[in-house]
Amino acid sequence: MKKMVLASIAVLTVTSAAMAAVNGAACAACHGKSFEKVAMGKSKVVKDMTHAEIEAALLGYKNTPGFGSSPMKGAMAGQVKKYSDADLKAFAQTIGK
Ligand code: HEC
Repeated sequence: MKKMVLASIAVLTVTSAAMAAVNGAACAACHGKSFEKVAMGKSKVVKDMTHAEIEAALLGYKNTPGFGSSPMKGAMAGQVKKYSDADLKAFAQTIGK
């Protein structure tokens, strides 16, 4: 019994870690599959931004009320709120240059 409980805790931990990782497919609708588009006619082309710039933007939308440059900035806050800072930092390393 104790073993079973420990096993399910282990499974739960792995699942929630996997779910927390940023789902890049959710970004494609606005930014394009390779982040090559100007999202909603407003954003910078994210693939041309540096990892550091992207990290600052993602954490800004998440943690700083009013962060962003266009009237569409609220769209980004909704995208990043569900992720941890660590997940956003890790994801920023995988896009841009
Ligand atoms: C509903 C459309 C939409 C989705 C989905 C979306 N974005 Fe955005 N994104 C925008 C808009 C619009 C902006 C520009 C906001 C502003 O005015 O600051 C933006 C800005 C950004 C920026 C900063 C670029 C700049 O202009 O300074 C980054 C980085 C970014 N998005 C990454 C992402 C990532 C990563 C995801 C997926 C987790 C995502 N976006 C999902 C619409 C979207």
